[in-house]
Amino acid sequence: MIGIFDSGLGGLTVVRTMMKQLPEYDIVYFGDTARTPYGSKSRETVIGYSFENTEFLIKMGAKLIIIACNTASSVATHKLSEKYNLPIFEVITPAIENALSATRNHKIGVIGTRATINSNIYEQKIMEKKPEAHVYSNACPLLVPLVEEGWLSKPETRMIVKKYLHPLKGKQIDTLILGCTHYPLLKDIIQHKIGKQVKIIDSSISIASQIKSYIQNSPEIDLSLSKKGKSKFYVSDITDQFKLTAQKILKQKIHLEHVIQ
Ligand code: DGL
Repeated sequence: MIGIFDSGLGGLTVVRTMMKQLPEYDIVYFGDTARTPYGSKSRETVIGYSFENTEFLIKMGAKLIIIACNTASSVATHKLSEKYNLPIFEVITPAIENALSATRNHKIGVIGTRATINSNIYEQKIMEKKPEAHVYSNACPLLVPLVEEGWLSKPETRMIVKKYLHPLKGKQIDTLILGCTHYPLLKDIIQHKIGKQVKIIDSSISIASQIKSYIQNSPEIDLSLSKKGKSKFYVSDITDQFKLTAQKILKQKIHLEHVIQ
């Protein structure tokens, strides 16, 4: 199974693209809904949660892990890779690679949670690969709760997105990375507010392509992954709202199981 975790709903954008790109591969998803959002928690706390989530997914049969959360990816990838002897993927690097191939003027915008933006990880990784790049970032702490609440197209959400993108307008960015897996659910609003000349990089698409090519080139891992086209969904707190929004994202009825972390 491919194990995927996030603080809540956001990682389902990764599940959605994985189901499209690798439909036969079984997925086990864990959304840490009882402890969401991660973006406003300390580094140590998010690392601790990431260990617990990974343990759980391994216990459920995962042979490959995707950290479908930028916040956890930015602080916990290293620690998890040190401890576990199985492939662990994060969502930041593939998004950066796609952004660097998309940009023409090397002015790249990044939006994410406070923890991700404060970690400076996007800027560091982009500058390592392309020192002449300019990175403009802005934390958007209200967007995760709005998505978790299912407020995907409310006027209030549009207004808040506009406000968050305001500092990036006027910087002539031609590429904008959605540095949070919740944000693809607001992609149309974000595209509208930032302008259609700006290419939006959706990390859920970037990571699914990376996994696809990794699996194609790693026959031994491929063999270890079950392929019945089945997905299982676990959450640390079940709410009707989560169920509703999750089904909207995946465009199918899903069965949620409650686990206590
Ligand atoms: N989807 C998570 C991310 O990509 C949201 C983090 C949060 O829970 O604040 O960062």
